[in-house]
Amino acid sequence: MAFKINLLQLKEHGSVAEIRQDVVNVIGLTNCMNGQMVTIGESSRGVIVGFDADYVLVLLVKQTGAIKPGDKVTTTIDEFQVPVGDAFTGRIINALGEPIDGNGPIKETRRWPIFNIAPTVLERVPLDDVLQTGVKMVDMTLPVGKGQRMLILGDRMTGKTSVGLDAMINQKNEGVICIYSCIGKSEAALNKVIEVFNTHNIWEYGIIVAATAADPMGQQYLSPYVAASVGEYFTHEKNMDVLLVFDDFTKHAWAYRQISLLLERAPGRDAYPGDIFYIHSQLVERAGKMKEERGGGSMTHLPIVETLEGDFAGYIPSNIISMTDGQIYLNASLFGEGFKPAIDMGLSVSRIGSKVQWPAMKKQSSMLKMDYIRHKELEKMTRIKAGVSEAVEERLQKGRCLEELLKQNENEPVPLQEQVMILHALEKGFLQGTAPRDVSRKLSAFVAQVKNRRPEIVQSLIDTKTMTEEIKEALDEQLSQFSDTAV
Ligand SMILES: Nc1ncnc2c1ncn2[C@@H]1O[C@H](COP(=O)(O)OP(=O)(O)O)[C@@H](O)[C@H]1O
Ligand SMILES: [Mg+2]
Repeated sequence: MAFKINLLQLKEHGSVAEIRQDVVNVIGLTNCMNGQMVTIGESSRGVIVGFDADYVLVLLVKQTGAIKPGDKVTTTIDEFQVPVGDAFTGRIINALGEPIDGNGPIKETRRWPIFNIAPTVLERVPLDDVLQTGVKMVDMTLPVGKGQRMLILGDRMTGKTSVGLDAMINQKNEGVICIYSCIGKSEAALNKVIEVFNTHNIWEYGIIVAATAADPMGQQYLSPYVAASVGEYFTHEKNMDVLLVFDDFTKHAWAYRQISLLLERAPGRDAYPGDIFYIHSQLVERAGKMKEERGGGSMTHLPIVETLEGDFAGYIPSNIISMTDGQIYLNASLFGEGFKPAIDMGLSVSRIGSKVQWPAMKKQSSMLKMDYIRHKELEKMTRIKAGVSEAVEERLQKGRCLEELLKQNENEPVPLQEQVMILHALEKGFLQGTAPRDVSRKLSAFVAQVKNRRPEIVQSLIDTKTMTEEIKEALDEQLSQFSDTAV
Protein backbone atom coordinates (compact mmCIF):
# COMPACT_ATOMS: atom_id res chain seq x y z
CA MET A 1 0.00 0.00 0.00
CA ALA A 2 1.33 3.39 -0.95
CA PHE A 3 2.28 5.52 1.96
CA LYS A 4 1.71 9.19 1.34
CA ILE A 5 3.32 11.87 3.43
CA ASN A 6 1.75 15.26 3.44
CA LEU A 7 4.76 17.48 3.84
CA LEU A 8 2.64 20.44 4.78
CA GLN A 9 1.47 18.67 7.87
CA LEU A 10 4.85 17.40 8.90
CA LYS A 11 5.87 19.38 11.94
CA GLU A 12 9.10 19.62 13.79
CA HIS A 13 9.70 20.81 17.31
CA GLY A 14 12.68 22.47 18.91
CA SER A 15 13.27 24.88 21.72
CA VAL A 16 14.70 28.31 22.40
CA ALA A 17 18.26 28.28 23.68
CA GLU A 18 19.10 31.95 23.77
CA ILE A 19 17.68 35.33 22.75
CA ARG A 20 19.72 38.27 21.52
CA GLN A 21 17.50 41.23 20.64
CA ASP A 22 15.70 40.21 17.45
CA VAL A 23 17.55 36.94 16.98
CA VAL A 24 16.58 33.70 18.69
CA ASN A 25 18.95 30.73 18.82
CA VAL A 26 17.05 27.48 18.55
CA ILE A 27 18.10 23.90 19.19
CA GLY A 28 16.44 20.65 18.17
CA LEU A 29 15.36 21.51 14.63
CA THR A 30 17.14 19.10 12.34
CA ASN A 31 15.24 19.28 9.06
CA CYS A 32 14.62 22.96 8.65
CA MET A 33 15.82 25.24 5.89
CA ASN A 34 16.61 28.88 5.38
CA GLY A 35 13.61 31.14 4.86
CA GLN A 36 11.22 28.87 6.73
CA MET A 37 8.64 30.26 9.12
CA VAL A 38 8.59 29.12 12.76
CA THR A 39 6.21 29.68 15.65
CA ILE A 40 7.83 30.45 18.98
CA GLY A 41 5.93 29.83 22.21
CA GLU A 42 2.24 30.52 21.82
CA SER A 43 2.07 32.73 18.77
CA SER A 44 5.27 34.68 18.22
CA ARG A 45 6.62 34.26 14.70
CA GLY A 46 10.08 34.16 13.25
CA VAL A 47 11.92 33.22 10.10
CA ILE A 48 14.99 31.02 9.85
CA VAL A 49 17.86 33.13 8.58
CA GLY A 50 20.87 30.93 9.14
CA PHE A 51 22.71 28.26 11.07
CA ASP A 52 25.87 28.04 13.09
CA ALA A 53 27.66 25.12 14.68
CA ASP A 54 25.15 24.78 17.50
CA TYR A 55 22.02 26.66 16.64
CA VAL A 56 19.37 27.42 14.11
CA LEU A 57 19.21 31.23 13.91
CA VAL A 58 15.72 32.67 13.84
CA LEU A 59 14.88 36.30 13.17
CA LEU A 60 11.88 37.48 15.17
CA VAL A 61 9.17 38.87 12.95
CA LYS A 62 6.33 39.20 15.39
CA GLN A 63 6.56 39.01 19.15
CA THR A 64 3.29 38.47 20.94
CA GLY A 65 4.69 37.76 24.42
CA ALA A 66 7.91 37.33 26.37
CA ILE A 67 10.26 34.72 24.91
CA LYS A 68 12.48 32.74 27.23
CA PRO A 69 14.94 29.85 26.94
CA GLY A 70 13.14 26.54 26.80
CA ASP A 71 10.11 27.88 24.90
CA LYS A 72 8.80 25.50 22.30
CA VAL A 73 9.60 26.24 18.64
CA THR A 74 7.43 24.67 15.97
CA THR A 75 7.97 24.61 12.26
CA THR A 76 6.02 23.19 9.40
CA ILE A 77 8.26 21.81 6.68
CA ASP A 78 7.46 24.37 4.07
CA GLU A 79 8.77 27.68 2.85
CA PHE A 80 7.60 31.01 4.20
CA GLN A 81 4.36 31.96 2.47
CA VAL A 82 1.98 34.87 2.82
CA PRO A 83 -1.69 35.15 1.90
CA VAL A 84 -2.37 36.94 -1.38
CA GLY A 85 -5.48 37.65 -3.43
CA ASP A 86 -7.74 40.13 -5.17
CA ALA A 87 -9.20 41.34 -1.89
CA PHE A 88 -5.85 42.88 -0.94
CA THR A 89 -6.48 45.97 -3.07
CA GLY A 90 -7.52 48.87 -0.92
CA ARG A 91 -5.75 47.49 2.14
CA ILE A 92 -2.67 48.05 4.28
CA ILE A 93 -0.83 44.92 5.38
CA ASN A 94 2.30 44.15 7.39
CA ALA A 95 5.23 41.91 6.50
CA LEU A 96 3.22 38.83 7.44
CA GLY A 97 0.43 39.70 5.05
CA GLU A 98 -1.85 40.62 7.97
CA PRO A 99 -4.16 43.63 7.71
CA ILE A 100 -3.09 46.59 9.85
CA ASP A 101 -5.67 49.14 8.71
CA GLY A 102 -8.33 48.10 11.20
CA ASN A 103 -10.76 47.13 8.44
CA GLY A 104 -11.07 43.49 9.40
CA PRO A 105 -9.73 40.30 7.88
CA ILE A 106 -8.82 39.99 4.18
CA LYS A 107 -10.10 37.08 2.14
CA GLU A 108 -7.09 35.21 0.81
CA THR A 109 -7.19 33.53 -2.58
CA ARG A 110 -4.05 31.51 -2.05
CA ARG A 111 -0.60 31.58 -0.44
CA TRP A 112 2.57 32.73 -2.12
CA PRO A 113 6.20 31.99 -1.18
CA ILE A 114 7.84 35.24 -0.14
CA PHE A 115 11.28 34.29 -1.47
CA ASN A 116 9.81 33.23 -4.79
CA ILE A 117 12.31 32.52 -7.55
CA ALA A 118 12.20 35.08 -10.36
CA PRO A 119 10.89 33.83 -13.72
CA THR A 120 13.59 32.69 -16.12
CA VAL A 121 14.64 34.68 -19.17
CA LEU A 122 12.85 32.14 -21.34
CA GLU A 123 9.56 32.96 -19.69
CA ARG A 124 9.94 36.68 -20.35
CA VAL A 125 9.86 38.95 -23.36
CA PRO A 126 11.59 42.25 -24.14
CA LEU A 127 9.66 45.26 -22.93
CA ASP A 128 7.53 46.96 -25.55
CA ASP A 129 4.81 48.81 -23.69
CA VAL A 130 5.18 52.07 -21.81
CA LEU A 131 4.26 52.54 -18.18
CA GLN A 132 2.90 56.05 -18.18
CA THR A 133 4.21 57.80 -15.09
CA GLY A 134 2.56 61.13 -15.85
CA VAL A 135 5.80 62.82 -14.81
CA LYS A 136 6.56 64.79 -17.95
CA MET A 137 10.31 64.61 -17.74
CA VAL A 138 10.26 60.86 -17.16
CA ASP A 139 7.78 60.04 -19.93
CA MET A 140 9.47 62.41 -22.38
CA THR A 141 13.13 61.64 -21.78
CA LEU A 142 13.40 58.60 -19.49
CA PRO A 143 10.54 56.35 -20.57
CA VAL A 144 9.75 53.45 -18.26
CA GLY A 145 8.59 50.20 -19.85
CA LYS A 146 6.13 47.82 -18.25
CA GLY A 147 8.37 45.28 -16.54
CA GLN A 148 11.31 47.65 -16.18
CA ARG A 149 13.33 48.30 -13.03
CA MET A 150 13.90 52.01 -12.69
CA LEU A 151 15.79 53.38 -9.72
CA ILE A 152 14.73 56.68 -8.16
CA LEU A 153 17.61 58.13 -6.22
CA GLY A 154 18.52 61.38 -4.54
CA ASP A 155 19.07 63.04 -1.19
CA ARG A 156 16.30 63.28 1.34
CA MET A 157 13.51 65.75 0.53
CA THR A 158 14.18 65.92 -3.17
CA GLY A 159 10.84 64.51 -4.31
CA LYS A 160 11.63 60.79 -4.67
CA THR A 161 8.49 59.51 -3.01
CA SER A 162 6.46 62.08 -4.95
CA VAL A 163 7.66 60.71 -8.30
CA GLY A 164 6.63 57.20 -7.23
CA LEU A 165 3.24 58.39 -6.03
CA ASP A 166 2.62 60.45 -9.17
CA ALA A 167 3.19 57.31 -11.21
CA MET A 168 0.61 55.55 -9.05
CA ILE A 169 -1.97 58.34 -9.30
CA ASN A 170 -1.53 58.20 -13.05
CA GLN A 171 -2.55 54.50 -13.19
CA LYS A 172 -6.17 55.35 -12.51
CA ASN A 173 -8.23 53.56 -15.18
CA GLU A 174 -5.08 51.99 -16.63
CA GLY A 175 -5.69 48.57 -15.10
CA VAL A 176 -2.34 48.57 -13.31
CA ILE A 177 -2.19 47.31 -9.72
CA CYS A 178 -0.05 49.67 -7.61
CA ILE A 179 1.81 48.49 -4.53
CA TYR A 180 3.66 50.83 -2.20
CA SER A 181 6.24 49.03 -0.09
CA CYS A 182 7.15 51.11 2.95
CA ILE A 183 10.48 50.01 4.45
CA GLY A 184 11.75 51.53 7.67
CA LYS A 185 10.21 54.97 7.10
CA SER A 186 8.76 57.04 9.91
CA GLU A 187 5.13 56.74 10.84
CA ALA A 188 4.67 60.33 9.65
CA ALA A 189 6.11 59.57 6.22
CA LEU A 190 3.79 56.57 5.87
CA ASN A 191 0.83 58.71 6.88
CA LYS A 192 1.65 61.20 4.14
CA VAL A 193 1.56 58.40 1.61
CA ILE A 194 -1.75 57.14 3.00
CA GLU A 195 -3.06 60.68 2.66
CA VAL A 196 -2.20 60.70 -1.05
CA PHE A 197 -3.85 57.29 -1.42
CA ASN A 198 -6.97 58.77 0.19
CA THR A 199 -7.06 62.01 -1.77
CA HIS A 200 -6.58 60.37 -5.15
CA ASN A 201 -8.36 57.15 -4.30
CA ILE A 202 -5.43 54.98 -5.28
CA TRP A 203 -7.08 52.38 -3.03
CA GLU A 204 -9.26 51.25 -5.94
CA TYR A 205 -6.19 49.61 -7.45
CA GLY A 206 -3.57 50.08 -4.74
CA ILE A 207 -2.10 48.22 -1.79
CA ILE A 208 0.32 49.34 0.92
CA VAL A 209 2.74 46.85 2.48
CA ALA A 210 4.18 48.64 5.47
CA ALA A 211 7.01 48.12 7.92
CA THR A 212 7.89 51.39 9.60
CA ALA A 213 10.98 52.20 11.65
CA ALA A 214 8.91 51.27 14.72
CA ASP A 215 8.30 47.72 13.50
CA PRO A 216 10.65 44.82 14.29
CA MET A 217 13.82 44.67 12.21
CA GLY A 218 12.59 41.35 10.83
CA GLN A 219 9.50 42.98 9.33
CA GLN A 220 11.53 45.79 7.79
CA TYR A 221 13.73 43.19 6.18
CA LEU A 222 10.86 41.01 4.94
CA SER A 223 8.40 43.64 3.80
CA PRO A 224 9.73 44.20 0.24
CA TYR A 225 9.64 40.44 -0.38
CA VAL A 226 6.05 40.32 0.77
CA ALA A 227 5.19 43.29 -1.46
CA ALA A 228 6.75 41.45 -4.40
CA SER A 229 4.73 38.32 -3.56
CA VAL A 230 1.46 40.22 -3.33
CA GLY A 231 2.32 41.73 -6.73
CA GLU A 232 3.33 38.42 -8.29
CA TYR A 233 -0.10 37.04 -7.63
CA PHE A 234 -1.56 39.74 -9.91
CA THR A 235 1.23 39.41 -12.50
CA HIS A 236 1.33 35.62 -12.72
CA GLU A 237 -2.14 34.47 -11.74
CA LYS A 238 -4.23 37.34 -13.03
CA ASN A 239 -1.90 38.26 -15.91
CA MET A 240 -2.15 41.90 -14.97
CA ASP A 241 0.36 44.75 -14.92
CA VAL A 242 1.76 45.70 -11.53
CA LEU A 243 3.69 48.77 -10.41
CA LEU A 244 5.74 48.32 -7.27
CA VAL A 245 7.49 51.19 -5.45
CA PHE A 246 10.05 50.23 -2.78
CA ASP A 247 10.52 53.15 -0.40
CA ASP A 248 13.35 52.70 0.29
CA PHE A 249 16.22 50.25 -0.26
CA THR A 250 18.65 52.31 1.83
CA LYS A 251 16.58 51.57 4.91
CA HIS A 252 16.26 47.96 3.80
CA ALA A 253 20.04 47.69 3.59
CA TRP A 254 20.33 49.17 7.09
CA ALA A 255 17.87 46.65 8.48
CA TYR A 256 19.72 43.81 6.82
CA ARG A 257 23.06 45.11 8.09
CA GLN A 258 21.74 45.28 11.62
CA ILE A 259 20.38 41.75 11.41
CA SER A 260 23.66 40.47 10.02
CA LEU A 261 25.63 42.09 12.80
CA LEU A 262 23.33 40.43 15.34
CA LEU A 263 23.94 37.14 13.56
CA GLU A 264 27.65 37.82 13.93
CA ARG A 265 28.29 37.51 10.24
CA ALA A 266 31.55 38.93 8.96
CA PRO A 267 30.92 42.55 8.01
CA GLY A 268 32.17 43.69 4.63
CA ARG A 269 32.33 47.08 2.98
CA ASP A 270 30.71 49.84 5.07
CA ALA A 271 29.89 47.06 7.59
CA TYR A 272 27.28 45.64 5.19
CA PRO A 273 27.29 41.85 4.91
CA GLY A 274 28.81 40.41 1.75
CA ASP A 275 25.51 39.23 0.34
CA ILE A 276 23.73 42.62 0.37
CA PHE A 277 24.15 42.82 -3.42
CA TYR A 278 22.52 39.44 -3.79
CA ILE A 279 19.69 40.44 -1.44
CA HIS A 280 18.67 43.42 -3.54
CA SER A 281 19.27 41.85 -6.94
CA GLN A 282 17.12 38.89 -5.92
CA LEU A 283 14.31 41.37 -5.26
CA VAL A 284 14.54 43.46 -8.43
CA GLU A 285 14.97 40.31 -10.52
CA ARG A 286 11.33 39.61 -9.83
CA ALA A 287 10.34 42.48 -12.13
CA GLY A 288 9.74 41.74 -15.80
CA LYS A 289 7.25 41.14 -18.54
CA MET A 290 5.97 37.62 -19.07
CA LYS A 291 5.52 36.17 -22.53
CA GLU A 292 2.05 35.55 -23.95
CA GLU A 293 2.09 31.81 -23.17
CA ARG A 294 2.72 32.74 -19.54
CA GLY A 295 -0.13 35.20 -19.50
CA GLY A 296 1.62 38.40 -20.57
CA GLY A 297 1.47 40.09 -17.16
CA SER A 298 4.20 42.43 -16.00
CA MET A 299 5.75 43.79 -12.86
CA THR A 300 7.50 47.16 -12.92
CA HIS A 301 9.81 48.07 -10.03
CA LEU A 302 10.64 51.57 -8.89
CA PRO A 303 13.09 51.07 -6.03
CA ILE A 304 13.99 54.26 -4.17
CA VAL A 305 17.46 54.88 -2.75
CA GLU A 306 18.36 57.80 -0.54
CA THR A 307 21.80 59.29 -1.09
CA LEU A 308 23.83 61.32 1.34
CA GLU A 309 24.87 64.71 -0.06
CA GLY A 310 24.46 63.54 -3.61
CA ASP A 311 26.89 60.63 -3.24
CA PHE A 312 25.43 58.23 -5.78
CA ALA A 313 28.77 56.41 -5.98
CA GLY A 314 28.27 55.05 -2.45
CA TYR A 315 28.13 51.31 -1.90
CA ILE A 316 24.36 50.77 -1.82
CA PRO A 317 23.47 53.32 -4.56
CA SER A 318 26.11 52.02 -6.97
CA ASN A 319 25.06 48.42 -6.30
CA ILE A 320 21.48 49.19 -7.17
CA ILE A 321 22.37 51.40 -10.15
CA SER A 322 24.15 48.36 -11.59
CA MET A 323 21.17 46.04 -11.18
CA THR A 324 18.41 48.28 -12.55
CA ASP A 325 17.57 49.37 -16.10
CA GLY A 326 18.09 53.04 -15.44
CA GLN A 327 17.83 55.73 -12.84
CA ILE A 328 15.95 58.93 -12.17
CA TYR A 329 18.36 61.13 -10.26
CA LEU A 330 16.81 63.89 -8.18
CA ASN A 331 19.17 66.72 -7.53
CA ALA A 332 18.95 68.67 -4.28
CA SER A 333 20.29 71.91 -5.78
CA LEU A 334 17.77 71.83 -8.63
CA PHE A 335 15.10 71.29 -6.00
CA GLY A 336 16.45 74.26 -4.08
CA GLU A 337 16.30 76.42 -7.22
CA GLY A 338 12.62 75.55 -7.55
CA PHE A 339 13.01 73.24 -10.54
CA LYS A 340 10.54 70.51 -9.57
CA PRO A 341 10.47 67.62 -10.13
CA ALA A 342 14.20 68.08 -9.59
CA ILE A 343 15.26 65.47 -12.15
CA ASP A 344 18.86 65.86 -13.21
CA MET A 345 18.76 64.97 -16.88
CA GLY A 346 22.53 64.71 -17.16
CA LEU A 347 22.72 61.99 -14.52
CA SER A 348 19.48 60.16 -15.31
CA VAL A 349 19.13 57.45 -17.90
CA SER A 350 16.68 54.81 -19.03
CA ARG A 351 18.44 51.84 -20.55
CA ILE A 352 15.23 50.66 -22.17
CA GLY A 353 15.31 53.91 -24.09
CA SER A 354 12.70 55.10 -26.51
CA LYS A 355 11.77 51.55 -27.56
CA VAL A 356 8.68 51.62 -25.39
CA GLN A 357 7.65 55.19 -26.15
CA TRP A 358 4.59 56.17 -28.15
CA PRO A 359 5.67 56.89 -31.75
CA ALA A 360 4.13 60.35 -31.34
CA MET A 361 6.28 60.97 -28.29
CA LYS A 362 9.47 59.51 -29.72
CA LYS A 363 9.61 62.00 -32.52
CA GLN A 364 8.63 64.94 -30.37
CA SER A 365 10.96 64.32 -27.49
CA SER A 366 14.11 63.24 -29.27
CA MET A 367 15.58 66.74 -29.35
CA LEU A 368 14.24 67.77 -25.98
CA LYS A 369 16.95 66.28 -23.83
CA MET A 370 19.74 67.79 -25.93
CA ASP A 371 18.06 71.18 -26.03
CA TYR A 372 17.67 71.15 -22.30
CA ILE A 373 21.22 70.07 -21.55
CA ARG A 374 22.58 72.70 -23.96
CA HIS A 375 20.49 75.31 -22.24
CA LYS A 376 21.85 74.34 -18.83
CA GLU A 377 25.39 74.66 -20.19
CA LEU A 378 24.71 78.00 -21.76
CA GLU A 379 23.18 79.19 -18.52
CA LYS A 380 26.25 78.11 -16.59
CA MET A 381 28.57 79.89 -19.00
CA THR A 382 26.64 83.13 -19.07
CA ARG A 383 26.14 83.26 -15.34
CA ILE A 384 29.58 84.73 -14.79
CA LYS A 385 29.44 87.20 -17.66
CA ALA A 386 27.37 90.33 -17.26
CA GLY A 387 25.75 91.63 -20.47
CA VAL A 388 25.19 88.99 -23.14
CA SER A 389 24.33 89.59 -26.76
CA GLU A 390 20.74 89.79 -27.86
CA ALA A 391 20.98 86.46 -29.69
CA VAL A 392 22.28 84.70 -26.60
CA GLU A 393 19.63 86.34 -24.46
CA GLU A 394 17.01 85.06 -26.84
CA ARG A 395 18.37 81.53 -26.57
CA LEU A 396 18.42 81.79 -22.81
CA GLN A 397 14.83 82.92 -22.81
CA LYS A 398 13.86 79.96 -24.97
CA GLY A 399 15.66 77.61 -22.61
CA ARG A 400 13.87 79.11 -19.64
CA CYS A 401 10.55 78.44 -21.33
CA LEU A 402 11.61 74.85 -21.87
CA GLU A 403 12.41 74.57 -18.18
CA GLU A 404 8.99 75.94 -17.32
CA LEU A 405 7.42 73.41 -19.65
CA LEU A 406 9.14 70.59 -17.78
CA LYS A 407 8.17 71.77 -14.31
CA GLN A 408 5.24 70.09 -12.69
CA ASN A 409 3.45 70.15 -9.36
CA GLU A 410 3.42 67.00 -7.30
CA ASN A 411 0.26 64.86 -7.40
CA GLU A 412 -0.67 66.29 -10.79
CA PRO A 413 0.41 63.70 -13.33
CA VAL A 414 0.00 64.72 -16.97
CA PRO A 415 -1.45 62.10 -19.36
CA LEU A 416 0.73 61.14 -22.32
CA GLN A 417 -1.65 62.56 -24.92
CA GLU A 418 -1.41 65.96 -23.24
CA GLN A 419 2.36 65.70 -23.15
CA VAL A 420 2.36 65.06 -26.89
CA MET A 421 0.17 68.13 -27.46
CA ILE A 422 2.49 70.28 -25.38
CA LEU A 423 5.55 69.07 -27.27
CA HIS A 424 3.84 69.66 -30.59
CA ALA A 425 3.01 73.21 -29.54
CA LEU A 426 6.61 73.75 -28.48
CA GLU A 427 7.89 72.49 -31.82
CA LYS A 428 5.55 74.89 -33.64
CA GLY A 429 6.96 77.88 -31.77
CA PHE A 430 3.92 78.31 -29.55
CA LEU A 431 6.09 79.61 -26.71
CA GLN A 432 8.01 82.13 -28.80
CA GLY A 433 8.03 85.45 -27.02
CA THR A 434 6.24 84.05 -24.01
CA ALA A 435 7.53 85.15 -20.64
CA PRO A 436 8.67 82.11 -18.59
CA ARG A 437 6.12 82.82 -15.87
CA ASP A 438 3.27 82.58 -18.40
CA VAL A 439 4.38 79.26 -19.90
CA SER A 440 2.51 76.89 -17.65
CA ARG A 441 -0.73 78.88 -17.85
CA LYS A 442 -0.53 79.21 -21.61
CA LEU A 443 0.15 75.51 -22.15
CA SER A 444 -2.73 74.49 -19.88
CA ALA A 445 -5.03 76.82 -21.77
CA PHE A 446 -4.00 75.28 -25.07
CA VAL A 447 -4.51 71.71 -23.81
CA ALA A 448 -7.89 72.68 -22.37
CA GLN A 449 -8.89 74.25 -25.67
CA VAL A 450 -8.02 71.12 -27.66
CA LYS A 451 -9.79 68.86 -25.17
CA ASN A 452 -12.79 71.11 -25.29
CA ARG A 453 -13.08 71.71 -29.03
CA ARG A 454 -11.63 68.51 -30.50
CA PRO A 455 -12.18 65.70 -27.99
CA GLU A 456 -12.23 63.15 -30.82
CA ILE A 457 -8.69 64.17 -31.79
CA VAL A 458 -7.49 63.62 -28.24
CA GLN A 459 -9.10 60.18 -28.29
CA SER A 460 -7.57 59.40 -31.64
CA LEU A 461 -4.13 60.28 -30.23
CA ILE A 462 -4.72 57.89 -27.32
CA ASP A 463 -5.84 55.14 -29.70
CA THR A 464 -3.17 55.46 -32.37
CA LYS A 465 -0.33 56.72 -30.14
CA THR A 466 0.92 58.28 -33.37
CA MET A 467 1.03 61.79 -34.75
CA THR A 468 -1.10 61.15 -37.83
CA GLU A 469 -1.62 63.80 -40.48
CA GLU A 470 -5.14 64.28 -39.24
CA ILE A 471 -4.07 64.87 -35.65
CA LYS A 472 -1.27 67.14 -36.73
CA GLU A 473 -3.60 69.26 -38.84
CA ALA A 474 -6.13 69.50 -36.05
CA LEU A 475 -3.49 70.55 -33.53
CA ASP A 476 -2.05 73.10 -35.93
CA GLU A 477 -5.49 74.51 -36.49
CA GLN A 478 -6.05 74.80 -32.75
CA LEU A 479 -2.68 76.50 -32.39
CA SER A 480 -3.57 79.08 -35.03
CA GLN A 481 -6.94 79.69 -33.40
CA PHE A 482 -5.41 80.10 -29.98
CA SER A 483 -5.55 83.63 -28.76
CA ASP A 484 -3.87 84.79 -25.63
CA THR A 485 -6.90 86.78 -24.61
CA ALA A 486 -8.62 83.48 -23.96
CA VAL A 487 -6.06 82.79 -21.22
N1 LIG B 1 6.92 68.44 -8.09
C1 LIG B 1 6.86 69.01 -6.88
N2 LIG B 1 6.41 70.26 -6.75
C2 LIG B 1 6.33 70.84 -5.55
N3 LIG B 1 6.68 70.25 -4.40
C3 LIG B 1 7.14 69.00 -4.44
C4 LIG B 1 7.25 68.31 -5.68
N4 LIG B 1 7.73 67.08 -5.42
C5 LIG B 1 7.90 67.01 -4.09
N5 LIG B 1 7.55 68.14 -3.48
C6 LIG B 1 7.61 68.43 -2.03
O1 LIG B 1 8.95 68.26 -1.61
C7 LIG B 1 9.02 67.61 -0.36
C8 LIG B 1 9.84 66.37 -0.47
O2 LIG B 1 9.19 65.43 -1.30
P1 LIG B 1 9.31 63.88 -1.06
O3 LIG B 1 8.73 63.21 -2.22
O4 LIG B 1 8.77 63.51 0.28
O5 LIG B 1 10.89 63.72 -1.04
P2 LIG B 1 11.81 62.48 -0.66
O6 LIG B 1 10.97 61.25 -0.82
O7 LIG B 1 12.93 62.57 -1.64
O8 LIG B 1 12.28 62.70 0.73
C9 LIG B 1 7.61 67.34 0.06
O9 LIG B 1 7.21 68.31 0.97
C10 LIG B 1 6.81 67.44 -1.22
O10 LIG B 1 5.52 67.91 -0.95
MG1 LIG C 1 10.48 59.84 0.57
